[in-house]
Amino acid sequence: MKEAVLPKPLRRPEAPQYPAYDTAQVAAVLARWADTSGNLLPILHDIQRALGHVPPGAVGQIARALNRSRAEVHGVITFYHDFRQAPAGRHVLKLCQAESCQAMGSRQLTAEVEALLGCRLGETTADGAVTLEPVYCLGNCACSPAAMLDGRVLGRVTRAKLERLLDAVGRG
Ligand code: FES
Repeated sequence: MKEAVLPKPLRRPEAPQYPAYDTAQVAAVLARWADTSGNLLPILHDIQRALGHVPPGAVGQIARALNRSRAEVHGVITFYHDFRQAPAGRHVLKLCQAESCQAMGSRQLTAEVEALLGCRLGETTADGAVTLEPVYCLGNCACSPAAMLDGRVLGRVTRAKLERLLDAVGRG
């Protein structure tokens, strides 16, 4: 008699391993906003202020506390460009990608700055010096293309101007 060939059991996908984070700080933020409706965005902002980013490992903790799904919390974090999922570099350079700046060459500028730093938008240089991020209008359209370096809004930026400013703040 022929032996029945049973299908191989499905392997459960391994749970992703996230870097450790300060769960107590996240719990403190969650407690502070516990009684406020519409509290997800303020919670995420407070966590980012406290930890410098919203750790991927904290998504479950936040979702449980708010009785929401992890997908919902993750969706909000990834929808808004201001939320970081990893710590930023020592300096943060934001390049405007909105219409006015695009019309004034921000795409070309972005490509030049990516080549200068050796990282793409949304990434941090290998030495941790600079995080390069997109931003969608800095309210400085009259001086497009615009950028922001460590919170300082800049206008009519060029690759050369940004290189000088990055050197001045101690890039590298
Ligand atoms: S579109 Fe870039 S500053 Fe407004």
